[in-house]
Amino acid sequence: MSKFLITGGAGFIGGNFLHIMVNNYPEDQYVCIDALTYAGNIETLEPIMNKNNFKFIHENICNREAIFKIFEEEHFDYVINFAAESHVDRSIENPGIFLNTNILGTQTLMDACRKYGIKRYHQVSTDEVYGDLPLDRPDLFFTEDTPINTSSPYSASKASADLLVQAYHRTFGLPITISRCSNNYGPYHFPEKLIPLIIKKALANEQLPIYGNGQNVRDWLHVYDHCTAIDLIVRKGKNGEVYNIGGHNEKTNLEVVKTILKELGKPESLITYVKDRAGHDLRYAIDPSKLMNELGWKPKYTFETGIGPTIQWNLENQKWINNILSGEYIRFMNDNYKNK
Ligand code: NAD
Ligand code: DAU
Repeated sequence: MSKFLITGGAGFIGGNFLHIMVNNYPEDQYVCIDALTYAGNIETLEPIMNKNNFKFIHENICNREAIFKIFEEEHFDYVINFAAESHVDRSIENPGIFLNTNILGTQTLMDACRKYGIKRYHQVSTDEVYGDLPLDRPDLFFTEDTPINTSSPYSASKASADLLVQAYHRTFGLPITISRCSNNYGPYHFPEKLIPLIIKKALANEQLPIYGNGQNVRDWLHVYDHCTAIDLIVRKGKNGEVYNIGGHNEKTNLEVVKTILKELGKPESLITYVKDRAGHDLRYAIDPSKLMNELGWKPKYTFETGIGPTIQWNLENQKWINNILSGEYIRFMNDNYKNK
């Protein structure tokens, strides 16, 4: 039996991770700490809330005293840090909270790990720490050796956290792994991000805001495949290593939006070009060969097989979507798109 701390488990990826792991490993214990920010939704955890091997604690990872107390009481074997401010557009509007949660929150967790002892601290990072690739060089991919070169306050905060995790490994001998994944999509995706936003707006026959010319490329991975990769890295990955996660599903934003419109039977006339995101990364593309060759990971979904069920999930879960359309969500949407 192992005990896992999962931070940020009321969010998109952490929530999917918990759904899978709590059911797949009934002998292990999963404790979720989440501050329930605008992006955290306790309803996401409803399907596992009453499981014997799951416990939820409402707390902020920056609250040092509370976090240390939880570590003292729970005796974790593994810590997986999903908790973060995750939306690039919000980091352009208000960088400060990204530095607090993404950097100082990571430090607090690792200090607690040092004090109370753990088998492994895993940092859930992002391919955005590598910056972007040019659109006219399809032969180039991010490898684990690609230099850190960030564009947004969000990616700078995630890169800072990665460097801190590596420093704690080298200086204090903290057992760590880091994973850097490409863009995710799937169930429980907050509708401020491109795919669920487009589904929601297309269903309401609203204009679909495409930043710039829609030619920016993202490498889309179904959230299920991200979760199985993290599980493998935490259990079998080598101490101190970074692993890239991605499934070679590169699409322009325009291709993604047109696919969704076709699936929903909605007209392309809904597409509206708006002012570009400041510092907008051109292209992300992951080389996942280290993860595949060393740990034997294989994705279950391609974009073509994953997008249909994702749209279907959104159609069937209107209640979950409507419940997160709070005042804060509406304020952000109005501000973000006001001058675009
Ligand atoms: P999300 O915004 O959907 O969820 C974040 C969760 O963290 C929420 O439940 C929120 O309440 C919680 N949280 C925020 N601040 C907190 C704090 N101070 N203390 C405790 N909990 C806090 O994010 P996501 O898309 O699920 O991303 C999860 C992780 O994966 C992040 O670290 C992100 O950088 C990384 N990542 C995301 C993607 C993607 O495509 N979404 C891809 C690669 C990596
Ligand atoms: O690559 C991993 C990253 O993917 C994660 O680290 C981030 O947490 C996650 O939010 C995501 O970042 P992106 O900025 O790539 O995702 P987003 O869904 O915000 O945007 C995807 C693309 O779509 C990007 O090129 C910007 C564009 N876009 C986005 C929105 C919200 C639009 O054209 N219009 C929009 O309204």
